Amino acid sequence: MIRPATGKLGILTPGLGAVATTFMAGVEGVRRGSSKPIGSLTQMATIRLGKRADHRAPLIKEFVPLAGLEDIVFGAWDPIPDDAYTAAKKAGVLTPQDLEPLKDFLSAIKPMPAVFDQHYVTRLTGTNVKKGKNKRDLAEQLRADIREFRKVSGVDRVVAVWCGSTEIFIRPSAVHASVEAFEKAMESDHPDIAPSMLYAWACIMEGVPYCNGAPNLAVDTRALSELADAKGVPISGKDFKTGQTWMKTVLAPGIKARMLGLEGWYSTNILGNRDGEVLDDPASFKTKEESKLSVLHTILQPETYPDLYDGFSHVVRINYYPPRGDNKEGWDNVDIVGWMGYPMQIKVNFLCRDSILAAPLVLDLALFSDFAHRAGLRGMQEWLSFYYKSPMAAPGLQPEHDLFIQQTKLKNTLRRLMGEAQVTHATEDDT
Ligand SMILES: NC(=O)c1ccc[n+]([C@@H]2O[C@H](COP(=O)([O-])OP(=O)(O)OC[C@H]3O[C@@H](n4cnc5c(N)ncnc54)[C@H](O)[C@@H]3O)[C@@H](O)[C@H]2O)c1
Repeated sequence: MIRPATGKLGILTPGLGAVATTFMAGVEGVRRGSSKPIGSLTQMATIRLGKRADHRAPLIKEFVPLAGLEDIVFGAWDPIPDDAYTAAKKAGVLTPQDLEPLKDFLSAIKPMPAVFDQHYVTRLTGTNVKKGKNKRDLAEQLRADIREFRKVSGVDRVVAVWCGSTEIFIRPSAVHASVEAFEKAMESDHPDIAPSMLYAWACIMEGVPYCNGAPNLAVDTRALSELADAKGVPISGKDFKTGQTWMKTVLAPGIKARMLGLEGWYSTNILGNRDGEVLDDPASFKTKEESKLSVLHTILQPETYPDLYDGFSHVVRINYYPPRGDNKEGWDNVDIVGWMGYPMQIKVNFLCRDSILAAPLVLDLALFSDFAHRAGLRGMQEWLSFYYKSPMAAPGLQPEHDLFIQQTKLKNTLRRLMGEAQVTHATEDDT
């Protein structure tokens, strides 16, 4: 039994920067009829049901009871006190022509004081920051914020999508191994407990599904997965799959499907937004690099195909280059190998816009996570791996990186939840 999407849905974003404000502006634009939700599966994609001959392919949003855009209310936390209009203006993603008509709406979204510590994001200085006697106390303040947001905005349900900065690299340790150890570590201010983990803990405790848009460990620990399971709250992560990695998870399965070899993949890009500035710090870059590097290995399976993929070289660079702002330019050089060992090269030059690619992902993750919650799903949501660079997976299992397997998994999960048959594409089932 899936609870209906009655009333309003609150979407809280820790982080009110380029991605979050572009997301909010876009949703309001769609509500006013001035733009279309391009890039969003929940709004634009159809889903085939039954056999091909049945000709049933409704829009996902007509098939699955999702919250409507008109029912969304926004809230955010950020250590920088700018309201969403000012933040969007500084981010420079949207032109004044698109931004100015939304000024009243965006100016009204003011960030709540953040749990922030410069130790974890060295390139930022924040003034809109909570004070507390220890990390537990700070996390309790976040819980109080969520309760207050519910009360004041009158929303029925709340979901959270982390759109905050990438924190320094942290490995899972003993403090992340159980809920008890995690809660003790919050009380003793353990350095392995980063702010993003406090948001995740607070959200789960308040029954708020949590989606992790950055590569931060955050909710991707045993402790928080178990807590989410116990509290019946869906969680997912990590790191929005947008520019270069999205392209990689489209191309690499194609190379592998044809059993072509790979000698090396070199990816570099230039970007000049605040995210690029934060990633200019080696400790934050390390978190991002780990997230980006895992992809090829899992798709290509060198252990299974040593003749094709053993020892390929994979290099990822991100260069902070202010003139480009949010308009990232990426270059990929892919050295592949064909019949009789002959080398070939593929070059990709992607002139993308980071936040324009990420914004619809925020919307989909929020709507699907709210739906998952109402459908009684709990804990890690692997079917949402479609949206992530470094998807969470059950212990002992490899995450699925291939975009098209991820898409099939997502759609088949929707079919199953709605009582429809899985689409297998087997010839005998397909006509
Ligand atoms: N845009 C993309 O294509 C893309 C893809 C994958 C991941 N991401 C990740 O999404 C996140 C947001 O990207 P962006 O371009 O909007 O960055 P941004 O720098 O414009 O915005 C991030 C905001 O988070 C705030 N912040 C930092 N620490 C915080 C905390 N502890 N609590 C609350 N807010 C905090 C910052 O002050 C900033 O305003 C980054 O971590 C980025 O790596 C973006």
